[in-house]
Amino acid sequence: MKVNKGIILAGGLGSRLYPITLGISKHLLPVYDKPMIYYPLSNFLNLNVFNILIITKPNDLDNYKKLLGNGSKFGIKISYKTQKKPDGIPQALVIGKKFIGKDKVYINLGDHILFGKKLNNIFDKINQDFTNNFIFSKKTKNPKDYGIIKYLNNKPKKIFEKPKRYISNRAVCGLYFYNNNIFKYLKFLKKSNRNEYEITELNNLLIQNNDIKIINLPNSISWYDAGTFERIAEISKLISYYAKNNLFFGYLEHIAYKKKLINKNDYLRAIKNYSNTEYSHNLKKLLYINESY
Ligand code: TTP
Repeated sequence: MKVNKGIILAGGLGSRLYPITLGISKHLLPVYDKPMIYYPLSNFLNLNVFNILIITKPNDLDNYKKLLGNGSKFGIKISYKTQKKPDGIPQALVIGKKFIGKDKVYINLGDHILFGKKLNNIFDKINQDFTNNFIFSKKTKNPKDYGIIKYLNNKPKKIFEKPKRYISNRAVCGLYFYNNNIFKYLKFLKKSNRNEYEITELNNLLIQNNDIKIINLPNSISWYDAGTFERIAEISKLISYYAKNNLFFGYLEHIAYKKKLINKNDYLRAIKNYSNTEYSHNLKKLLYINESY
């Protein structure tokens, strides 16, 4: 099985969640029974991304290490780098350059939560033979909040960041896949008016050069940018509802167990370690259901 590399961007200010995020990183906040970062980590495990770099603010680093360690409890490898100030999403490629080496890489924003029963089928297809750069897109009811794709004759033309007037309802999700040729484009990026390097600009360079594919996710896949209290509450409620109906998302040990990254003893140890929690209870239930996403 091919092991892929991935970067989770868990820096940023999280200013929409002040004062909470003055004391704790947004991606460590609870989304139902687990920290937010478990969801992008689940996506990575499902994508066979077992070598992961987490980028955090310097002050948060110890908390991430306490939570996730070197990844061995999930049978994967996790390493860390820090970002002193939030210079923009493409900085993941700069900070992670050594980690990426000559390989391709997935980048997942730490607060973008993507889940759905059929997501693994999509991931499997991608993993089989993908050599292109690609991004995911999903229909949204709030196009003013996201990077929105303009199409011309059914072909992507340009992405507009938080457009004021209606362009389309196709938003770019915070999961990107780049080939090593991305570094060729990165050189051309300049800081925007808000003094950041913009992922939209990088993706637009790829679109201009016909060097990117856009995968339109179906309505059955849920996608959230968990940047506000309302959204965190909404996702928590939804994922909790699903769990009560035996549909489980984000249980890292279970995905790791299914993928044979950890054995049954490791799994039982996790259940014991978290005893008396909703998380442990759900891990136990999963032993009988054995289907998680
Ligand atoms: P944003 O939601 O754009 O920014 P933020 O998390 O700082 O939140 P706020 O707008 O409330 O201040 O960032 C998207 C994700 O990318 C989020 O998970 C943080 C991460 N990020 C970094 O790690 N480094 C960066 O330089 C930027 C811009 C974002």
